[in-house]
Amino acid sequence: MLKPKIHEQRIPISLLKDDLLKIVNKADIKAEEFEENEFLYTSSYLLSDTWRKNPAKDRTLARSWGHPMHTMASRSGSFPPALADYFINNFSKVGDLVLDPYSGKGTAPYQACLLDRVGFGVDITPEAYVLTGAKVHTIKHEEAIEYLKSIRFDISRTNIKDVHPDVKVFFSIKTLAQILVIKERLLDDLGFETKINYISGNIFHYAKTKTEQLAQYWLGIITGILHGSSSYSLSLPCSHSFSMAPNYTKNYAKKHNLKKPERNVIQCMIERSFYLQSAGIARISGKAYLGKAQELPKSWEEKFDLIVTSPPYFTAQSYAWDNWLREWLLGFDFKDVRKQTTQTASYEKYSLAMYEFLKEAYRVLKPGKRAFVIVGDVNKRSGEEKVIIRTSNVIVKEAQKTGFEIDLIINDDIPPTKRYNSSFLNTNQGLQIDRIVCLRKE
Ligand SMILES: C[S@@+](CC[C@H](N)C(=O)[O-])C[C@H]1O[C@@H](n2cnc3c(N)ncnc32)[C@H](O)[C@@H]1O
Repeated sequence: MLKPKIHEQRIPISLLKDDLLKIVNKADIKAEEFEENEFLYTSSYLLSDTWRKNPAKDRTLARSWGHPMHTMASRSGSFPPALADYFINNFSKVGDLVLDPYSGKGTAPYQACLLDRVGFGVDITPEAYVLTGAKVHTIKHEEAIEYLKSIRFDISRTNIKDVHPDVKVFFSIKTLAQILVIKERLLDDLGFETKINYISGNIFHYAKTKTEQLAQYWLGIITGILHGSSSYSLSLPCSHSFSMAPNYTKNYAKKHNLKKPERNVIQCMIERSFYLQSAGIARISGKAYLGKAQELPKSWEEKFDLIVTSPPYFTAQSYAWDNWLREWLLGFDFKDVRKQTTQTASYEKYSLAMYEFLKEAYRVLKPGKRAFVIVGDVNKRSGEEKVIIRTSNVIVKEAQKTGFEIDLIINDDIPPTKRYNSSFLNTNQGLQIDRIVCLRKE
């Protein structure tokens, strides 16, 4: 791996566009050379009014800041609402269209809606899509309850015998019977399972009708309470952020005498919805799509005013496996979902996936607008040696090929103990530092 050289401002900083100078002082920018290219960089510490309003004083608060709706589910690999808020606030205006083509649990699209922009999210995994849709469609608690009341859930029709033993590890029979009947009915209303095929690669969906959106809202709520250790969690006490391995969970539960709770599932869903909407909901409705970041809809040509996104970083996370139980809930096998997610240790394959995504990002962005791409450095083994891959360099290289200007890289170089993501990733898991690549379409 080539080592970057650092220079004191050899690139004319006057080339930086005014909109970036709103957030960074010229004196805080340095130039760095990498593989014969130079680019400008700064530190997130030095940005004006950065993503926790006054982060220098307390960065640890960054993760908990935000609207309750953001807590619908915790999911590994997410960025904090405060980060999305920062870029949306500074680089778009009311009424603008903001896209996150790797939307995860919908943080950026929902924050865009809260800021009176139209938030669009695309993600390849079913739980990410369902969570994004559940947040951005501005379904009111009262109308969601009306819809729920209108459904007849016939519990006598459930057949627990056919449920995979791995799933049974997590739930009491009584709770599981309710989950089965509720999920079947809601998935039917969303029109989900039948149209999507992770094996053939036919993956595109969005909730068109109000009924589909209502079903998606409740599916998002159940996805969020399916596992965890709160009083409304449907499983035995376990992680909320990721679906734990069944064998490990079984042994752990036995050793610690953990009980599978008997819940009134509908009651838990209603309580959760009530809490998520305790601070109201966004005034503006957004859109959620199940699909690939590398194949955005043809009709989206020059549609967006801003992109804020964070693609996967090589193999730093395994989104399909980490959400296997949530994917079961939504009718999918994580092994099939995994085939379609971008998750590779190969530099070449990863670079190609990033090129294809950046080409699409360039196409759908309006001229003169920006994309902020957040990626982490990752550890990789090369024989005996451990090398650090700067994922941001892949983004820089591939973005240049698509026509983007690379203005600045913001190193989110916060000490591990103060990092917003320190709770779910640490250096043992391969992550060193996040970098935000600031791109512009001329
Ligand atoms: C770093 S996470 C994004 C997290 C998001 N910013 C949040 O706050 O929840 C990357 C996301 O990319 C999704 N993903 C992986 N491959 C994809 C692809 N080819 N197209 C679209 N999404 C993909 C994963 O499901 C995951 O949600």
